[in-house]
Amino acid sequence: MSARGNFSSKLGFILAAAGSAVGLGNIWGFPYEVGQGGGAAFVIIYLIFCFILCYPVMVTEIAIGRKTQKNPVGAFNALGYKKWNFVGKLGLFSGVLILSFYNVIAGWAFGYIFEMVAGNFGIADQFGDYITNVFKVGAYGLVFMAVTAYVVSKGVSGGIEKAARLLMPTLIIMILIIVGYVMTLPNAIDGLKFYLIPDFSKLTPSVVYNAMGQAFFSLSLGMGALITYGSYVGKSDNIISSAAFITLTDVGIAFLAGLMIFPLIGFMSGGTMEGAGRGPGLIFVTLPQIFGEIGGTLGIATGTLFFVLLCFAALTSTVSLLEVPISYVVDEWKIKRTRASWLVALFIFIIGIPSLIGNGYSEFFSTSFTTYKDGGTDTDFLSFVAALANDTILPLGGCIIAFFAAHIWKKHNLDEELSNGAPGYKGSFIQKYLNFAIGYFAPIVLISVFILTVLFKFFGIQLI
Ligand code: PFF
Repeated sequence: MSARGNFSSKLGFILAAAGSAVGLGNIWGFPYEVGQGGGAAFVIIYLIFCFILCYPVMVTEIAIGRKTQKNPVGAFNALGYKKWNFVGKLGLFSGVLILSFYNVIAGWAFGYIFEMVAGNFGIADQFGDYITNVFKVGAYGLVFMAVTAYVVSKGVSGGIEKAARLLMPTLIIMILIIVGYVMTLPNAIDGLKFYLIPDFSKLTPSVVYNAMGQAFFSLSLGMGALITYGSYVGKSDNIISSAAFITLTDVGIAFLAGLMIFPLIGFMSGGTMEGAGRGPGLIFVTLPQIFGEIGGTLGIATGTLFFVLLCFAALTSTVSLLEVPISYVVDEWKIKRTRASWLVALFIFIIGIPSLIGNGYSEFFSTSFTTYKDGGTDTDFLSFVAALANDTILPLGGCIIAFFAAHIWKKHNLDEELSNGAPGYKGSFIQKYLNFAIGYFAPIVLISVFILTVLFKFFGIQLI
């Protein structure tokens, strides 16, 4: 074991990495992207991206991390390609940006625990007022960031791994119970149709770009989070199967979140599915109604438990987001982990203040991504940061990481690292596919999506 710390077991790594992947992106982000993207057509594009494009990038990130045992910037230096460490720096930058707004939403979810405890299911109708009560949601956000800093300050196996072990399985069971319940509601079938039967006429270019951004975000890719977690993985672990498990878990939970939300919208809209395109407020507006519907003590108990678990899912993700800059300052600047955790967390909280306040910036940043299909909530600055970090920088980061691994570090070195712990890897179909995907397919698709996204989102130019 090195002084930097390690995961104490193979399962520990898998759970922590799955904990990083599974978070608000699955339960809050995925359903609202599906809702805005027109339903099942988005889901299909999303699944294709996750398995054929993102999985190879995930394997590559973990391999680079394990090979070098370093943070995302130090990893490129350790491989002997200092010039390429800008990729790691880009990752640090996007990690800081993502955590800054992610923590705001985690704060909303945290506050909902108290609303549920109080039986205030009517919060659904007051969501707009709730998030503009800046001091209240700001205080929730501050507490959330402090808990994140505390876990990270305790190090890899002490804090991160322990938390993930218990919480992930509980979350899945809870979602399954809610899915079972919503399926029994009238008009649930209309929600299922919207979610599962594709209408490809709804497939616009921006749906495709958003699906890519969402896939990267949900799988925690493109910014070195998995280089960082990979750096704590043992040499005998099988990266190929671990990454497959992480991808399947992440996609599976996002899919379940959709099964939970869309039948409910079918029920509430009387089958018209109006409200599905609401945007970032979606789960905060739809879910409390189900708990209200259940009513009484049982409603309070399920509502509270749900938001508690959502917060834990968010926590295992904020922890991984914070771990990226912390591993950097601990490795490279030799700052003590505890001190670094608190200082960096405070810094990121401050950067998140514009996302918290949001509304004041709506005029300034009123570009295409801020207009929700049917009104929606005022989270404009937050949407801007999310569009910049998730939909733009992450695919770019993934593109460069794949290109670097295949053409600069070279495929045979990647293959060598991957065959540690995976004896059958060399010569297998998966090796051939990964070589193709990392070398050509991923870099070409990702750079194209990056260029088209920048032109479209930030300049309003739609090429295709
Ligand atoms: N994957 C997380 C989610 O879906 O909520 C968000 C995230 C965590 C993105 C860590 C990036 C990251 F490095």
